[in-house]
Amino acid sequence: MQPVTMHVREGIAHVVIDSPPVNALSQPVRASLADAVARVEQDSQIAGVVLSCAGRTFVAGADINELGAPLTPYLPDILADIAASRVPWVAAIKGTALGGGLELAMACHGRIAEPSAKMGLPEVSLGILPGAGGTVRLPRLVPMTTAITMITAGKPIDAKAALDAGLVDILAETDLLSEAEALLHDLPMGIPLLERPVRDADAIDWDAEQKTLRKKSQGAQAPLEALAALHDAASLSAEQALAAERDRFLRLAVSDQSRALRHVFFAERAAGRSLRDLQAEPADLSCVGVIGGGTMGAGIAVALLLAGSQVILVERDEASAAKARTRVDETLTASAKRGVIDASGHAAALDRLKTAQDYGALTDCQLVIEAVFEDMALKREVFARLDAVMPASAILATNTSYLDVDALAGTTAHPDRVLGLHFFAPAHVMKLLEVVRGSATGPRALATAGALARHLRKIAVVACVCDGFIGNRIMNAYRNDCEFMLEEGALPQQIDAAMESFGFAMGIYKVQDLSGLDIAWAQRKARAATRPADERYAHIADRLCEAGRLGRKTGRGFYDYSDGKPKVDPEVTAIIEEESAKAARTRRDFTEREIIDRILTVMQAEGQAILDEGIAESADDIDVVMITGYGFPRHKGGPMWLTRG
Ligand code: 3HC
Ligand code: NAI
Repeated sequence: MQPVTMHVREGIAHVVIDSPPVNALSQPVRASLADAVARVEQDSQIAGVVLSCAGRTFVAGADINELGAPLTPYLPDILADIAASRVPWVAAIKGTALGGGLELAMACHGRIAEPSAKMGLPEVSLGILPGAGGTVRLPRLVPMTTAITMITAGKPIDAKAALDAGLVDILAETDLLSEAEALLHDLPMGIPLLERPVRDADAIDWDAEQKTLRKKSQGAQAPLEALAALHDAASLSAEQALAAERDRFLRLAVSDQSRALRHVFFAERAAGRSLRDLQAEPADLSCVGVIGGGTMGAGIAVALLLAGSQVILVERDEASAAKARTRVDETLTASAKRGVIDASGHAAALDRLKTAQDYGALTDCQLVIEAVFEDMALKREVFARLDAVMPASAILATNTSYLDVDALAGTTAHPDRVLGLHFFAPAHVMKLLEVVRGSATGPRALATAGALARHLRKIAVVACVCDGFIGNRIMNAYRNDCEFMLEEGALPQQIDAAMESFGFAMGIYKVQDLSGLDIAWAQRKARAATRPADERYAHIADRLCEAGRLGRKTGRGFYDYSDGKPKVDPEVTAIIEEESAKAARTRRDFTEREIIDRILTVMQAEGQAILDEGIAESADDIDVVMITGYGFPRHKGGPMWLTRG
């Protein structure tokens, strides 16, 4: 069957794209659509066209598998034919109209959308820019500032915002297709879109826009190219701007950054697939228990509340329970400020939270997530108590950063129901969920982890048990090596600068100061007795902790925060130089390239070891963990991708 069909009813042609799962514009779809366009032109009985899609969504864009290998017919040519059609076309939008999908809708003469629809040009997230007229048509429909935000940030807008901005003509009230037909009759025969001027471009300070964007994009090229294309749209004729956009698109589509970003797109979707493929019935997530309401427990509770679950949060005493509730409330307030929920959503979420000190309050929960202090004896005690009170069907999870999930499972009578669910701070924001599969973890526990990731809209990556699982193990390895570089002559600010110019949002020393140096210190102390005597060990971080420099929370860590911002501290430099001397290292200069090469080499070696030991399911999963959990620049594709580069 053809992916695009057409049937004519009372002079209106219904052109329907049907190419599951998301109606992407693959070569067969484009060929079939081009054929439909030609048939419309030839059939004088047709007075107008409603373009719609079968399935759950309008066109989600070009087929990402085909980017960089352009195959005829070209999308811009088809869109030019639609725009120049002798009859009006109306796009009937449901689900998402993204990338080439929105460009297709913009080539039509009118647009109607379901109120739940979303529209966007997310191409920059794939390292490209709209390549079928998006940068030229969008600013003729919506004000240039809106076009700049939509195209350079790549974030979709909802139907109401699209209506207000002028991107769609009307929102459907009851029946999208019949209302689309009505719109066809009402469409004024206006000036063709490309002959209209761009909207409100005079007030744009292009240099300032570029400066801000350069800083924000941290080395990603596509947003800057997209801005330049919009500047073309404002300063060249539509025809010239379309040609310039196409050149930029074709150049970016074969760039290393676009290849890397496409790799990440598919790697994120493949992550956790083994959890989805399980036959086991996942636990019900309508009521979830959380033990410990500190940084992580409160964040996990907020994530669950925002997803609609009821949460029973158990703390050690009344005062801690009250603090936990306040923490949750404050986080919900911040979410409301960011527009994630409104005031009534905030109140309803808080209503779904119950705090308790008694484990008996948890018995209606099918899943309990423990997030108490990182202390094995305490966690063992918690798991033994949980095992005693929870029904055998309930799943028990730990949010431990490093500890042995098998040892915890061993404290229970049903180790198959125990697993690690390693969230990242802030837990209600960060996308990554490391699912730690113990040697006895059963399919129901794993299926529950998969269901939880979907429920919370997180990306699950499966790891097996080892010290630090995938992410913290790799971070520990390169953090150690960074300390060796400090001993050898580098300084924290140089390592941070090198990482930031590579594209990390923050260097490793600023990150450590932010999260606090004490957890890793406690972990090093716990391991001191078993550390081989001949293993190289740098004492710099220990010295800082001993001096009470635990990071931002104490006002001092690798940097001094007395002015709020990280400031280089001569005391830290002196400690580093003393440690170099003690370790008999001759200090030397490091270039940024050398620093990054060393960091990448260590990440890749540790990643390979993790693969060889069967800790991760794939190299792609390691990339996903480092990008979504540890700030590795997305447009570089991840440490393992770079070994293939
Ligand atoms: N091309 C090819 N495959 C695509 C695709 C696309 N544009 N969009 C989604 N898919 C695939 C996914 O890989 C996934 O496959 P899988 O089941 O084998 O893993 C399947 O469709 C379903 O996708 P999701 O799991 O992401 O489904 P969701 O329902 O969560 O999300 C979506 C749907 C919002 C459409 C999301 O898939 C998405 O954001 N897609 C990408 C949209 C995009 O970036 N479009 C721009 C493409 S570039 C372009 O158009 C260039 C143009 O300017 C010329
Ligand atoms: P935290 O110190 O902020 O909170 C721990 C909470 O547990 C406190 O509120 C405390 O009152 C409570 N608690 C202690 N004993 C308890 C008991 N017996 N019963 C009930 N509650 C009890 O610690 P944080 O940072 O939230 O860490 C919790 C866990 O999450 C640790 O295992 C940690 O390794 C892990 N983790 C931490 C991350 C972080 O960035 N902070 C990231 C990912 C995991």
